[in-house]
Amino acid sequence: MADNNAKLHVGSGDHAFNVLDGSIGPSVVNISSLYKDTGMFTYDPGFTSTASCESKITYIDGDEGTLLYRGYPIEQLADHGDFLETCYLLLYGELPTKAQKDDFVNRVTYHTMIHEQMNRFFAGFRRDAHPMAIMCGTVGALSAFYHDSTDITDPHQRMVASLRMIAKMPTIAAMAYKYHVGQPFVYPRNNLDYSSNFLHMCFAVPCEEYKVNPVLARAMDRIFILHADHEQNASTSTVRLAGSSGANPFACIAAGIACLWGPAHGGANEAALSMLAEIGSVDQIPEYVARAKDKNDPFRLMGFGHRVYKNYDPRAKIMQKTCHEVLGELGIKDDPLLDIAMELEKIALNDEYFIEKKLYPNIDFYSGITLRALGFPTNMFTVLFALARTVGWIAQWKEMVEDPSQRIGRPRQLYTGATRRDYTPIDQRR
Ligand code: CMC
Repeated sequence: MADNNAKLHVGSGDHAFNVLDGSIGPSVVNISSLYKDTGMFTYDPGFTSTASCESKITYIDGDEGTLLYRGYPIEQLADHGDFLETCYLLLYGELPTKAQKDDFVNRVTYHTMIHEQMNRFFAGFRRDAHPMAIMCGTVGALSAFYHDSTDITDPHQRMVASLRMIAKMPTIAAMAYKYHVGQPFVYPRNNLDYSSNFLHMCFAVPCEEYKVNPVLARAMDRIFILHADHEQNASTSTVRLAGSSGANPFACIAAGIACLWGPAHGGANEAALSMLAEIGSVDQIPEYVARAKDKNDPFRLMGFGHRVYKNYDPRAKIMQKTCHEVLGELGIKDDPLLDIAMELEKIALNDEYFIEKKLYPNIDFYSGITLRALGFPTNMFTVLFALARTVGWIAQWKEMVEDPSQRIGRPRQLYTGATRRDYTPIDQRR
């Protein structure tokens, strides 16, 4: 890294801080000595100007609408690659050779079953539990079953934990779904590829044969690729922060799942579809657009806007294409929600408010419609996001654990509460 200096004048003092350049993207001012030098902290709620770590995994250019995994554009990976190849790339940094890929696929495939005793965990949940609640609980519970991969100081155990997470997540997600709909669990099938196996575990029933549609399996795989990693977003930062204390990988991923659940993050695809259903018909759209623009109304158009992408979300373009492929394959022509979605997109993209604030449809806008067409209920959408993002979380967690300069994450604050005061006995309080 080449470096130069940034100067800061605070009070009567001048201070210099290194500017560090990455291989691409904005440089950063290294303010790690700021407190020691000046007695001050930085203040950046929402971390809009803060690089929390150094990373070599994923790069986003929000103005250009670029997303690179280990340098490779998302469009190329989605068009030519598959999800497990993307997993290998994210974890190891390079695309695999044929032999490396075969070995990786084999290792993932033979870790797909979960400990039989874990089935009882599912039985402990109410049938109407949200599948994300089941997912949070059961993924956290993995550390109670796989003691031989929780020693984070052992590189072999770290890799085994990583493979286990990637392999078992589809099984857990499918079980959460099956439990929710009251059907028997379907065990993984090792003769199917990753995404076909997942669709099989979700939609097969013991009483009849289920044949996976290859077009739908390919669409599923592409959805997984698009969601695999996204730099230091809220859930990934949560995983890194949890991991910085030395917590085991299963616990860290469970923390990431909990964060992903929120409607401003992974929950947006579910929220987007609920919103389309609430809008109900094309003629109601202007009313909802007006509400989204009204400062006094908390309503937002779900599936629009992004913290980083201010031009367009490159994943949304691929997702839009995939969405039409799936609808075409399934012969869905007249879907009222799709009509509303297309009209809403048109209106919002031509509205001054959305243009000025650079609010474009994001990936969640199209993924909800696609997943619904694939047969998933809305409450499974975020579960599928978590399944796909697991590899990103685990790659980021590994990178952090393997970084010799890693320390526990411990932000500070601007305190605006009461200053020191003395305890008042209860009978003297008013
Ligand atoms: N509808 C209407 N107005 C919006 C929207 C929206 N979806 N998103 C942002 N705005 C307005 C917001 O009111 C604010 O206006 P003003 O400057 O007048 O106060 C301005 O745009 C900037 O918004 P912000 O909340 O400061 O932006 P942010 O970067 O903090 O939030 C976001 C990004 C994605 C949380 C937000 O755009 C949002 O809530 N979108 C809807 C939820 C959604 O689709 N989330 C999925 C994100 S993509 C998947 C993922 O990465 O998890």
